[in-house]
Amino acid sequence: MSIVQRLLETRRLERQAPHDDVVIEQMRKRDLREVLAIENQVYPKPWTPGVFQSEIDEMRSGYRNYVVARSGGRLIGYAGLLYSGDDAHVTNIAVDPTVQRRQLATRLLIHQARFAIRQGFRNLTLEVRASNRAAQELYRRFGFVPAGIRKNYYEGVEDAIVMWCHDIDGEGYSERLRSLEAGIAR
Ligand SMILES: CC(C)(COP(=O)(O)OP(=O)(O)OC[C@H]1O[C@@H](n2cnc3c(N)ncnc32)[C@H](O)[C@@H]1OP(=O)(O)O)[C@@H](O)C(=O)NCCC(=O)NCCS
Repeated sequence: MSIVQRLLETRRLERQAPHDDVVIEQMRKRDLREVLAIENQVYPKPWTPGVFQSEIDEMRSGYRNYVVARSGGRLIGYAGLLYSGDDAHVTNIAVDPTVQRRQLATRLLIHQARFAIRQGFRNLTLEVRASNRAAQELYRRFGFVPAGIRKNYYEGVEDAIVMWCHDIDGEGYSERLRSLEAGIAR
């Protein structure tokens, strides 16, 4: 895609309603260039291509699920899950800065939560930077609550807040997901 085409595409995405034509599909190695373009913009310590490659390889073992969101063919966000025991761990979720605050992370997390429920997991968990209020607010809406602190977890200087969301296999949680989904459509 040329720079001009990319600019026009960004304008189109900025104008359109957040729920128009978004497709969520499994992450593949061929997605990595676009994934890394977002990763390198949004994180102070981005994952390397090797980390993504090995996470994609691990999907074959059945212990991971990574998905990307596309609109008009352009990759605009992604999210990953890792499983252990009864729990599914949200390893990464990121949205292209030009289309943030349009409920895309909400869509990705609904998708991953439903996937985890179908796989029989009972809880979701994750770590988030203490300074990352945007992500904490997103997770709070999904029912995550802070359960502890990992001191100096990031780069040896910033604390991680450990958050949990329990009993995702119950009807109450399915209802929460339906209500979040209804909020996107409005
Ligand atoms: C966190 C992130 C994934 C959110 O993506 P997004 O698509 O913009 O999120 P959504 O539009 O689905 O937001 C859902 C809700 O989360 C909260 N939220 C999201 N971004 C926020 C912000 N910048 N400030 C405050 N609240 C925010 C709001 O409650 C929002 O609902 P509202 O817009 O109706 O008020 C995105 O900001 C991002 O990619 N950040 C960099 C990567 C990152 O920090 N990932 C999390 C690692 S733990």
